[in-house]
Amino acid sequence: MSAVPGKTFYLETFGCQMNVHDSEKVIGTLVHEGYEQVQTVEQADLILYNTCSIRDKAEQKVFNRLNDYKKLLKQGKRFGVLGCVAQQEGEKIFERAPHVSLVCGSASYRNLPQMLAELENAQIEAPKPAGRKAELANLVRITGLDDRETDACFETEFTARTNPHRGYITIIEGCDKFCAYCVVPFTRGKERSRTSDSVLAEARQMADLGYTEIQLLGQNVNSYKDPAGKPGGKKTFAELLASVGEVPGIRRVRFTTSHPRDFGRDIIDAIDAVPTLCDHVHLPVQSGSDRVLAAMQRLYTRDQYLERISWMKSAKRPLSITSDIIVGFPGETEQDFADTLSLLDEVGYDAVFTFKYSPRPNTPSLALEDAIPDQEKARRLEVIMSHQKDIQIIRYKKYIGSELEVMVEGKNEARKQWIGRTSHNKTLNFAAPDSSVPQVGSYVKVRATQSFPNSLLGELVI
Ligand code: 5AD
Ligand code: SF4
Repeated sequence: MSAVPGKTFYLETFGCQMNVHDSEKVIGTLVHEGYEQVQTVEQADLILYNTCSIRDKAEQKVFNRLNDYKKLLKQGKRFGVLGCVAQQEGEKIFERAPHVSLVCGSASYRNLPQMLAELENAQIEAPKPAGRKAELANLVRITGLDDRETDACFETEFTARTNPHRGYITIIEGCDKFCAYCVVPFTRGKERSRTSDSVLAEARQMADLGYTEIQLLGQNVNSYKDPAGKPGGKKTFAELLASVGEVPGIRRVRFTTSHPRDFGRDIIDAIDAVPTLCDHVHLPVQSGSDRVLAAMQRLYTRDQYLERISWMKSAKRPLSITSDIIVGFPGETEQDFADTLSLLDEVGYDAVFTFKYSPRPNTPSLALEDAIPDQEKARRLEVIMSHQKDIQIIRYKKYIGSELEVMVEGKNEARKQWIGRTSHNKTLNFAAPDSSVPQVGSYVKVRATQSFPNSLLGELVI
């Protein structure tokens, strides 16, 4: 099928899984409007960036991209900024990158068809201006920055899921926690949950389409509060998790990201009771020091966090636990940092995502002096990553010899290895004989034969 002239788009996504899933909704909406997605900027009439503002580096990335391609404006290409930076910066984006025509926050995607029509009409009507200055002065500028309190963001009518086997479902949007460092409450707005009925309807629909793995999403997924339901029919997060796991055809359910404050023992009970709930919990701790946790306004202490870890360790199946950590938060002393290192030993994480503190607009910690030099933040990051690597080497080794079920994700042709993912969310690459080629999306048994700090290697069990 050849593209309608003027109606091709290129979309690059930055940031978290919520953004990846939002992009699936944007792609679905655009395709429904007669647009065709292309894989390069050069082929596109409309160049879109779905942006992240969690750290300054992520925000800079989009402005660098916009700068790299601004010369393409004179070829008639148009630029749009979507997502968290769009929501945070609003019309200021037109000042920082004057060649941008469209700024659309994540609560306004349902208005995209209208906004695109406006953009197209403006292009048809505009007389050809001479020179770059005139072109910029003439450029139409469209914004969609709805308040982020609407539930319409759960609209899924045109979701274009990119993977036919596993897919995301957003169950809760926004955040009411206001951690001192975090921009999310300002970019994603107030917490609002979707009804459990509509989540389950989407899960069933996905199962009917052949999906076997579902990942429930939310900035604080376990803060889920069912907004409606028959009297007595409202589901808690743990109940919703269990119900999704019981949808016929669904073999794996994951959920991310959980907040320790709202992490109840009932989630572990659900994992114990429903075998399709994966053996993995991502529970960001951010710091192992009570002093820093209080300054971060995380709403829990180290001991309270460790209590939740002890629930996970008492689960019937061994669970894999992963976390996020910020180093160099204002005022973090050597002792605070040492407390974080000792927490890594105490928990025994299977993976930790570590970040240097980055001051963000609007956040409470912006008022604190960002006194730890970047070099020192980098040193702490290095220390923590190497400490965690040692922990992982030992943890991954334990799997050698065991048989694990993986979902086949694809093949690394160069290495002649199949790529699998375990219920623990570990990558397990494996060899298979030509007589037993596994299908992508299927579940097979693999015996682990070698371990690395971040993955396992094995062979197909026939
Ligand atoms: N600076 C550094 N890291 C941050 N994160 C969130 N905000 C900041 C910030 N201002 C990290 C947290 C969070 C992860 C998604 O990003 O660890 O869990
Ligand atoms: Fe980035 Fe947070 Fe927005 Fe996700 S919600 S894209 S992590 S700023």
